[in-house]
Amino acid sequence: MAQIRLDKLLANRTPHSRSDVKSILKNGAVQVDGMTECDGSRKIDPDVQEVTLYGKKLVGQSHVCFLVNKPQGCICATEDRMHKTVLDLLPAELRVKGLFPAGRLDADSTGLVLLTDDGDLAHRMLAPKSHVPKYYLVRLKKPCRAGDIKRLADGLQLGDGTQCMPAEARPLEGRGNYVLICLHEGKYHQVKRMFAALSNHVESLHRVAVGGMILPEKLPFGAHVEVLHKDVENMLKAGNFDAIYERIMTNFSSYSINEGREV
Ligand code: URA
Repeated sequence: MAQIRLDKLLANRTPHSRSDVKSILKNGAVQVDGMTECDGSRKIDPDVQEVTLYGKKLVGQSHVCFLVNKPQGCICATEDRMHKTVLDLLPAELRVKGLFPAGRLDADSTGLVLLTDDGDLAHRMLAPKSHVPKYYLVRLKKPCRAGDIKRLADGLQLGDGTQCMPAEARPLEGRGNYVLICLHEGKYHQVKRMFAALSNHVESLHRVAVGGMILPEKLPFGAHVEVLHKDVENMLKAGNFDAIYERIMTNFSSYSINEGREV
């Protein structure tokens, strides 16, 4: 892994803020390879150097997690000869060994994808029994009717007989045929197949949140942010449908602009 400032690593991988970390370092609570280190600006490589805080090795010291805003046409794979992958969205120095997309979006879908080298985290997020919710902003060909919302809430049956878990959905008031939908599972092309079963058609699909982790509205397509250790747990929580709905309504132009086509 690339070298990282010691104070940044501590702030990323512990619940302490950057300013707390300063005093923790000053107090001599941090050791690098067995030697007390007070200088937060020192660059270290967490893959080869051991950092301890109050004598305890940092948890997940060597794992990283990034959130990217996937544009259209980019694919959720680690490599591909023909297409740009979500890993290509990161600068080379951040593409650490073992990094992969935790979860998939179709090539023509856009929005939040997490990249990590932490298999346990990906498992906790993706395991069917975890039911970590995923929120999608969907533009439909036709309006979504009250009867459709009820069928989604009751657990819809797809055209091939596959039974879906109950899904919460709400049209974005005054925003044409946009709907926010929350799924607790991840079947193949699920959102598209659900609306097809309702005799509708998905024209664009943008993932706006996973669990409690919301796509930052100002993050351009193709850009990334690092997810700090303390925020990773947040991601595994339920999220709040009403709060996410309000945030999308308030920042609608940021979430819907260009619909993922790189400009
Ligand atoms: N459902 C779909 O149909 N496509 C996606 O990319 C994600 C969910």
